[in-house]
Amino acid sequence: MLRDQVSGDAVRLASHDRLPASGTVGAVNEATDDLLHPLLSSRWSPTTFDRSTDVTAAEVESLLEAARWAPSAGNSQPWAFILGCRGEPEHERLVRHLAKSAARWAPTAGLLVANLSHRFVEDTDWDYSEFSVYDLGQAVAHMSFQASSLGLHVRQFRAFDRAGLAAEFEVPQHWEVTTMSAIGHLPRNAAQDAQAKGSRPARHRRSSTEIRWPQASFTERR
Ligand SMILES: Cc1cc2nc3c(=O)[nH]c(=O)nc-3n(C[C@H](O)[C@H](O)[C@H](O)COP(=O)(O)O)c2cc1C
Repeated sequence: MLRDQVSGDAVRLASHDRLPASGTVGAVNEATDDLLHPLLSSRWSPTTFDRSTDVTAAEVESLLEAARWAPSAGNSQPWAFILGCRGEPEHERLVRHLAKSAARWAPTAGLLVANLSHRFVEDTDWDYSEFSVYDLGQAVAHMSFQASSLGLHVRQFRAFDRAGLAAEFEVPQHWEVTTMSAIGHLPRNAAQDAQAKGSRPARHRRSSTEIRWPQASFTERR
């Protein structure tokens, strides 16, 4: 059983967090820090943000710029973003569609983003690009690391009403509201703790051996 990243409580794994059955997974933060760029080693996904520090318009612009420059199949750029900064009507409209689990923490983030992928050619069932979700993921990753460079943290999540949100913002059928991101500053104490690594949550990953083919091919998922 994993520990909740913030409270330390034991938590049941959600399907997106399931780990291999082999038991080779450990809390490997500290062991790999020296192999990683600081932007990568310092990234983690909080579930508590600073309610009193806003994400500025300049920061939002910088995040969009990072997404814009992500690579994509045939340079198709099959992404779009619905953005809501705390205090703006869009923020409230996004909050309305959060699932119960995300409603507990996501509204504390200064910025909520719905990440959209261009799935189909309009009025057909033809793929717009077979890589559109892959490409959106890269754009969100670019945005996440730009956020890190600005001292912001990001938690991506799926716990929201996809259809409700699409209806709310009149997203046409050929676009898919794929994921959301909560972006903001860590609460001051948590930021200091995280920097000191004293209370940075334990994070678990499959080992580098396990993700190398062919070993990876034998990994059974629970
Ligand atoms: C596509 C996607 C969906 C996710 N969905 C949720 C979610 O619904 N709720 C949640 O609390 N976290 C969600 N997460 C966050 C992951 O649980 C988190 O990234 C993972 O546990 C690894 O932790 P780390 O980002 O701190 O390394 C999601 C992440 C991704 C990329």
